[in-house]
Amino acid sequence: MNQHAQWDIITGVGITALGVAAARALETHRQEGLVTDPYAEAFVRAAGAPVPMPTRPDANEDPEIPWGRMATYIGVRSRFFDEFFADASAAGVDQVVLFAAGLDTRAFRLDWRPGTTVYELDAPKVLQFKDQVLTEQGAQTRCHRRTVAVDLREDWPAALRQSGFDVRCPTAWLAEGLLPFLPDDAKDSLFTRMHELSAAGSQIAVEHIDGDFAALRRDPRFQKLRDRFGFDPSALWPANQHYDPVGWLADHGWVVSAVRATVVAQQYQRPLDNMILEPMGSSLLITAQAGAG
Ligand SMILES: C[S@@+](CC[C@H](N)C(=O)[O-])C[C@H]1O[C@@H](n2cnc3c(N)ncnc32)[C@H](O)[C@@H]1O
Repeated sequence: MNQHAQWDIITGVGITALGVAAARALETHRQEGLVTDPYAEAFVRAAGAPVPMPTRPDANEDPEIPWGRMATYIGVRSRFFDEFFADASAAGVDQVVLFAAGLDTRAFRLDWRPGTTVYELDAPKVLQFKDQVLTEQGAQTRCHRRTVAVDLREDWPAALRQSGFDVRCPTAWLAEGLLPFLPDDAKDSLFTRMHELSAAGSQIAVEHIDGDFAALRRDPRFQKLRDRFGFDPSALWPANQHYDPVGWLADHGWVVSAVRATVVAQQYQRPLDNMILEPMGSSLLITAQAGAG
């Protein structure tokens, strides 16, 4: 089943998970940090990427290279989705699915309602690396945690159900840092399957970049990011993307709310305007509740 998701933590789309962990580490070390991730830096150290990624704020950062700014964006989106899970937990949802979990440590750092099970879906080698580092760190989960090695372009529901997912229970789903890497047909199939597996009371959270991808990829700062830190997410985005998750969810009976990450950043008093890469300015943070029907 996993023949097509063979990247590890420093190759292909796997290295984007490491980049996000580095950004979370940096945000963790900021005084005004929006997220505290005690394992993020350990992941970056253990990975031994060919070009080391910064995990601490650098007062002398080259203003042309948006690493610290990217960390602010990652802090904003992490906090926003942390709050989504706090609300879902308070509403009684105790089944959670993290698509493309990467090096997300929410299972270890959030307060979940008792009995919660968190399913982490990602490529096998990414999950292996993650478990190895978390074991070395002596990390303790705050929920039942199950990793599910899949290719999200394939039949992931079968693997999820085999891991214990209960289709009768409401689920809180998250797709964070995933959609830009999937072609539109794979996004459509992901949403269809998630919808089919959603019992009444389910909730969905999604990060969506709703810009012109061909244009977004031309931002010259991506090239600088790659040259300096060996990390350029834009190179992995299919150019021809027009998927509309807000429309899809509304058409399928979900009650949807979408807010610009820049607006959320203002609310957190960490403004992003004029200081980030274009794709982050085009980022929509979406939440949806299953409709009554
Ligand atoms: C940018 S990282 C985001 C990780 C995590 N959600 C976070 O925000 O920290 C993207 C992740 O998507 C995973 N991914 C991308 N395409 C995938 C696919 N087809 N199947 C499984 N995982 C995939 C990668 O392995 C990587 O861990």
